[in-house]
Amino acid sequence: LQALTARARPDFLIGAAVALGPLVSDAGYANHVVGEFGALTPENAMKPQALAPRQGEYTFEEADALLDLAESRGMAVHGHTIAFTEAMPRWMQTLPTGSEEERRASAAVLLDYVTTVVTHFRGRLDSLDVVNEPFDVDQGTGLQENVWHRVFGPTYPLAVSQAVHDADPDVRQLINENGADVPGPRQDALLRLAVETNEQGGHIDGVGLQSHVYHLDTDAISAEDLATTLATFEDAGLDVRISENDVTDDEGEDVQAEQYATVLATCLRSDACVSYTTWGVDDRYDWFVDDDGDLQQGRDLLFSDDEPTPAYDAVRRV
Ligand code: XIL
Repeated sequence: LQALTARARPDFLIGAAVALGPLVSDAGYANHVVGEFGALTPENAMKPQALAPRQGEYTFEEADALLDLAESRGMAVHGHTIAFTEAMPRWMQTLPTGSEEERRASAAVLLDYVTTVVTHFRGRLDSLDVVNEPFDVDQGTGLQENVWHRVFGPTYPLAVSQAVHDADPDVRQLINENGADVPGPRQDALLRLAVETNEQGGHIDGVGLQSHVYHLDTDAISAEDLATTLATFEDAGLDVRISENDVTDDEGEDVQAEQYATVLATCLRSDACVSYTTWGVDDRYDWFVDDDGDLQQGRDLLFSDDEPTPAYDAVRRV
């Protein structure tokens, strides 16, 4: 039994994004993954640039190794992700889209990617981010420009959803986004995208709310806002995953711990909230991008240098 369980909801799974590197090289990290968490999301191993670095060549080894581990430990697996602007290999980003004929050919290539990948993992994923970060960065509400959009137009999430469903009708389908965990235009856009995709014949079961709290002064998530958010999606018949929660310690470890506990406790009070995942395990392997776009070492997870943080204790007490 995993140490991190929700007393209020014994079936509820607390997960983490996991990377194969430290899992193999760091026994402490590996012990935390299998000893603490009931669910696993491959942090990078299932992104298109990892699975298909060259057109027509698939590299499933890392993702398969993570799934083998999860299965051997009875952990649920969340797949991440199919259509994601930021994580496509170059060949995919640059598929020709100038003419109708080119768009038709590129559509076939993209759909073949979805079919190959989802068929490969069929039966092994509980849920899957079929579209990740659809909206413009910096809190935009318009769809990001990318090859999917150029090929299929603004209803590209429908094309992805249908292709995923054809290959694996049982996997739960999510659209995952940041900055949508509190009420506002971005959340409205995410709700609309999920609802409209389904009205057009899609199979979206819910949304992932990334819930990254990189700055407590601007990104803090209040219990009230999150409860309102969960009710909004529940009213629309959509599940919610808190999919990538991490919280900065820039206002101290106590404030950090409290923010963690608030998000998890609020999630647990809503039937719509089906799972909760932290984006990483130990600060040692963590990543975030600062305001200047530089990669920074984060201190925002439940473990730091192999030791549980106050946030860990707070999450355990929920
Ligand atoms: C991040 C990973 O954590 C990093 O290791 C990688 O270098 C870049 O991507 N939102 C997402 C994730 O949906 O895929 C991102 O993961 C973090 C932000």
